[in-house]
Amino acid sequence: MNILVTGGAGYIGSHTCKALAQAGYRPIAYDNLSYGHRWAVRWGPLEDGDISDRAHLDAVIAQYQPAAVMHFAAFAYVGESVRDPGKYYRNNVAGSLTLLEAMRDHGIRQCVFSSTCATYGVPQQSPIPEDHPQRPINPYGASKLMIERILQDFDAAHGLRSIALRYFNAAGADPDAEIGESHDPETHLIPLVLDAAAGRRPAITIYGDDYDTPDGTCIRDYIHVTDLAQAHVLALQTLLRGAGSTAYNLGNGHGYSVREVIDRAAQITARPIPRERSARRPGDPPTLVGDAQRIRRELGWQPRYADLDSILSTAWQWHQRRLRSSVGVE
Ligand SMILES: NC(=O)c1ccc[n+]([C@@H]2O[C@H](COP(=O)([O-])OP(=O)(O)OC[C@H]3O[C@@H](n4cnc5c(N)ncnc54)[C@H](O)[C@@H]3O)[C@@H](O)[C@H]2O)c1
Repeated sequence: MNILVTGGAGYIGSHTCKALAQAGYRPIAYDNLSYGHRWAVRWGPLEDGDISDRAHLDAVIAQYQPAAVMHFAAFAYVGESVRDPGKYYRNNVAGSLTLLEAMRDHGIRQCVFSSTCATYGVPQQSPIPEDHPQRPINPYGASKLMIERILQDFDAAHGLRSIALRYFNAAGADPDAEIGESHDPETHLIPLVLDAAAGRRPAITIYGDDYDTPDGTCIRDYIHVTDLAQAHVLALQTLLRGAGSTAYNLGNGHGYSVREVIDRAAQITARPIPRERSARRPGDPPTLVGDAQRIRRELGWQPRYADLDSILSTAWQWHQRRLRSSVGVE
């Protein structure tokens, strides 16, 4: 069974392609390679295309007849979305609309969508449940919330069922080190910390150490990318069995502070990690932790790499492999 995976050459999309192939599906990666990588597409064909290119989408859908779509393709830099909101609304919202209209017209009725904890905005409780108010504080989060709304309307009007997965912080790498995280520019804490451990950057910057948290640094909920990928397969399977539209959080329900991540990374890599302090970044809540009990209960999702050590050690294994070989270097 073919599954169209938009953004399939990106970090989470490529790990999900591997999980799909392992579960017996054929992933068709559809990616314009604006941020994705050819080397990350290993478990099915790559169609080099843009989600806003309706004619290309029509041709690819006609060729592969996918049973469902997994929709990862998006821009995902929060700071950039504040500086250039049009870029985010055009790519994320207008692009998704073109994709959904193509799905509607080709009779594809199932979609798993990459949403985000950024749709919640500033948390009023912790851990954050799915019914927490969604009041995003930046255009990136707003663009994802708009797509969630569009999906609800497409279900009501066209019977297009969807599961929106609201991820907290994706991290880690394929435990076989075949693929891993490689963003350019990189803004995520763990790859930056590992770069500092490897001596590829002079120090890791801690943005704010005067928050109201036990050690003063921000607390985030890290979820292993392979566990995320597995959740996508479960969401797909439940949709294919006829389940209705819904949204689930994906996190581990446990947060680690920036300082804890750096300290643990120094132990795992056995390298010193120089740090420097900087001012808080606007719009960074002190704590972001997700309550993912619902997807555990309803879909039987069970993370296998929930602890910080597994996340850091798989990321480090991949990081070293990239440095040793030309994999992941373009
Ligand atoms: N990484 C995280 O922690 C995180 C957290 C919450 C939500 N998300 C969401 O998960 C998804 C995947 O994130 P990621 O970290 O793998 O990012 P990524 O940048 O590695 O992957 C996104 C992919 O989409 C592709 N793409 C972008 N615009 C496109 C377009 N118009 N047409 C075709 N392809 C396009 C890019 O080339 C890239 O390969 C995104 O939608 C992101 O918003 C990520």
